[in-house]
Amino acid sequence: CGIVGYIGKRDVAPLLLEGLQRLEYRGYDSAGVVITGKSGVLKTVKAKGRVRELEARIPKRFAGTTGIAHTRWATHGAPNDENAHPHLDAEGKVALVHNGIIDNADDLRAKLIADGVEFTSETDSEVVVHLIGRSQADTLEAKVQEALRRVEGTYGIAVMHQDFPDRIVVARNGSPVVLGIGDKEMFVASDVAALVSHTRQVVTLDDGEMATLKADDFRTYTTEGSSTSATPTTVEWEAESYDMGGHDTYMHKEISEQPDAVDRVLRGRIDDRFSTVHLGGLNLDPREARSVRRIKILGCGTSYHAGQIGAQMIEELARIPSDAEPASEFRYRNPVVDPDTLYIAVSQSGETYDVLAAVQELKRKGARVLGVVNVVGSAIARETDGGVYVHAGPEVCVVSTKCFTNTVVAFALLALHLGRIRDLSVADGKRIIAGLRKLPAQIAEMLEGEAEIEKLAAEYAGAKSMMFIGRVRGYPVAREASLKLKEISYIHAEAYPASELKHGPLALIEPALPTVAIVPDDDLLDKNRAALEEIKARSGRILAVAHQVQEKADHTIVVPKNEVELDPILMGIPLQLFAYHTAKAMGRDIDKPRNLAKSVTVE
Ligand code: G6P
Repeated sequence: CGIVGYIGKRDVAPLLLEGLQRLEYRGYDSAGVVITGKSGVLKTVKAKGRVRELEARIPKRFAGTTGIAHTRWATHGAPNDENAHPHLDAEGKVALVHNGIIDNADDLRAKLIADGVEFTSETDSEVVVHLIGRSQADTLEAKVQEALRRVEGTYGIAVMHQDFPDRIVVARNGSPVVLGIGDKEMFVASDVAALVSHTRQVVTLDDGEMATLKADDFRTYTTEGSSTSATPTTVEWEAESYDMGGHDTYMHKEISEQPDAVDRVLRGRIDDRFSTVHLGGLNLDPREARSVRRIKILGCGTSYHAGQIGAQMIEELARIPSDAEPASEFRYRNPVVDPDTLYIAVSQSGETYDVLAAVQELKRKGARVLGVVNVVGSAIARETDGGVYVHAGPEVCVVSTKCFTNTVVAFALLALHLGRIRDLSVADGKRIIAGLRKLPAQIAEMLEGEAEIEKLAAEYAGAKSMMFIGRVRGYPVAREASLKLKEISYIHAEAYPASELKHGPLALIEPALPTVAIVPDDDLLDKNRAALEEIKARSGRILAVAHQVQEKADHTIVVPKNEVELDPILMGIPLQLFAYHTAKAMGRDIDKPRNLAKSVTVE
């Protein structure tokens, strides 16, 4: 799941361990490191568990200036020492770390076993290192290319070879690989987070691209061998943004950063003269915007929920029929790709494999695809024709909070922009702009109510299961709040439109199953109140998130009023704190929930 590599003059093991710690947030279950030792022989250490367990196993004498390291998130084979990366070939001369999934691993493994190769792990990755080790090609680059020609699937790999000690060879197909260019030293990682404390000059590899790193030089080329040009770009994010800054978890830090983050996504984009917004990278001229007949938004997890809210905002403000769908489902159902539909891919990381693959499939079919992405220069940002950057800053906690909020605000901007090109009036444009401007202060005001929410969380933390309900604008808010709670507290939660209660889930309501209800002051207020009554009549406990105290609810979290179209942005925020404090009261590992990874770059 995480790769770090270094070649230069410094002692490599501490550098690699620090890099792995920076990637810890992505979720993993084992870790390992390999270096070229003083004698020129490869030395490997692996450990199941956390990076600190790996560190404890590293012997006193483990000096070297070239090495690669890995944190693994099990796909093939259990998390244990043998399955941890790096993997070595039979002679122990080649070492490899791999992210991704090799689809034809079983075939290749059977062939290699028939040729007498003995495997030491159950991983799909190990086949690649044997293929490299058995290649008769003259150079390490050619050996890797020969191996990759036999491999089907996704990979980000880094390779070292005892006979070629002056280099690390890396390759990418579907899993991110970023080079960090230093002064007489080079870094490689699967995420800039592992590099930014050393260098801000980076090169992101494209799919099908490889690179050779030497201490004072690097070159890039394709897996077929032709050279590619690579101009380093500068990462904007500061190394400090990855520190916890006095908070007990990254999640808490990121929730607290939301007033600033929202201010950033709005900054420089509002145009008061025409009551609209400027989206510089959108790459959609007014004529094209007017010819769009439908919008389809694709994302996974929290980004999918942000897309659902986005679709409602676009439909409301721009009157373009819009909906959101999980990217993973979309790409497998042979969707009708229609030239009048505008597709929008949503992703915090810009690397989620299912979203990237959906974008590639759409582009192959000639569709127009925009991105709403947080990580600048990420694969999805580069693969799309244009889009809106979310500017939430780096998000480290596995579960998404500030990026979710910023993504929804980015959609509000897009909806306003499309609306003002189509038939949203100047007056409505002004109204929405005024509402957007109020958001940072209103979010800050809600965060001040944290102590109250902490008390509420303590009351509900004992529940085995919880129901989340909302209608229309409130429904995706309920879905996201329910996801957040289950991800970090492991309390079972489900979200329903309040209107569907009586068609089934009402059967579950009893005192032991509390309900969180999203009750905005909009035209559905009375209907939502009726739903609360139905629950109360079955002795269900209710926590309402509303603009005014709800009599039928046991507790109400009151949120400030804004424009109705922007309600979903504000109503989700106290529920992030609710999930956080519930998980904390239950002693959960909030930043690294079990079984989850920050960014899923495999299928
Ligand atoms: C993973 C994370 C989720 C995230 C989803 C999409 O499953 O655990 O928190 O929402 O990926 O990630 P993306 O980077 O594409 O927004």
